[in-house]
Amino acid sequence: SISELQKLHDVARTVARLAGNYMREDQLRRRQTPLATREKLNSVDLVTAADETVEKMIKDSILKEYPDHAFIGEESYSAGEEKRFLLKDGPTWIIDPIDGTVNMVHMFPMTAISIGFCLKSIPTVGVVFAPFLGGQGTMYSAIHHPEGGAWFEELGPDGPTTPLPLTSPPPPLPLDAPKGCLFFGEYGKDRRDHPQSNLTKKAANFVNMATEIGGRGSKGGMVHGIRSLGSSTMDMVYVASGQGDIMFEAGCWEWDVCAGIAILLQTGGIVVDSNPPLNLKDSDPIPMANLGGRRYLAIRGCSEDSTGRSPRMQQE
Ligand code: IPD
Repeated sequence: SISELQKLHDVARTVARLAGNYMREDQLRRRQTPLATREKLNSVDLVTAADETVEKMIKDSILKEYPDHAFIGEESYSAGEEKRFLLKDGPTWIIDPIDGTVNMVHMFPMTAISIGFCLKSIPTVGVVFAPFLGGQGTMYSAIHHPEGGAWFEELGPDGPTTPLPLTSPPPPLPLDAPKGCLFFGEYGKDRRDHPQSNLTKKAANFVNMATEIGGRGSKGGMVHGIRSLGSSTMDMVYVASGQGDIMFEAGCWEWDVCAGIAILLQTGGIVVDSNPPLNLKDSDPIPMANLGGRRYLAIRGCSEDSTGRSPRMQQE
């Protein structure tokens, strides 16, 4: 019921703030003690003690409140706790304690705690807290439900909340999108450099989108700008809030996007599974049970009634 989802949303917001406070204190400690990092799959796939501590804080608080719920977390997965990665229909939390670990290591503030909750494998509650943005951190959250909502908070827990998207109604997406859009694209962590690699393809696609000759049809790409923030979660909430238009990432994981998808869906945006990234006509909506699809194209809502029409749908 909506009241149960509201309670869940409150629990997630409270624990996200606690975890955020820890991260802010941790950053202060770095003035005395240098941060230790460990490598996971390669030298850009990093983990710090903060990732593990924050994941444990979140996991313990959530399971204390909801002992029967399933829990999927980035660091528990890395530690081998979840061997088979199957999202089941029961209540399941999917969290990334620190999305944008590389940013945090470099003290670039685009870092977020990402807490998602799925019901019947549909992202239903999303809480994203960026502890280093805004005075006391910046929170984006949503309950994806007809009686739910999506909100932005930047003035602390007792400050006002602003509904998302930030402008109502959001401006329509250009019919020849991605032309004229603000586009977020991540390069991911696979850095193998050969002509067929993911990295090479992504880089070529991003260049095409920015040029006159690339992109879709004879009109060319010419997005207004391409941003690569280093946090898929932040890309997604910026798209949900209307601070950007489209986000593409291939190669990230469920925990990078689950909370963001809940927020995006509630603001009327859609997620499609797309390859190559901008051939919208060929893309199908992601079956949500397949959150592990790992290729995500998120497009912000563009209609007043939040039906989530995509440029593809407008053309049909
Ligand atoms: C990473 C970030 C990055 C994306 C990677 C993710 P992490 O998450 O979201 O933007 O390109 O694919 O793995 O490791 O910092 O939690």
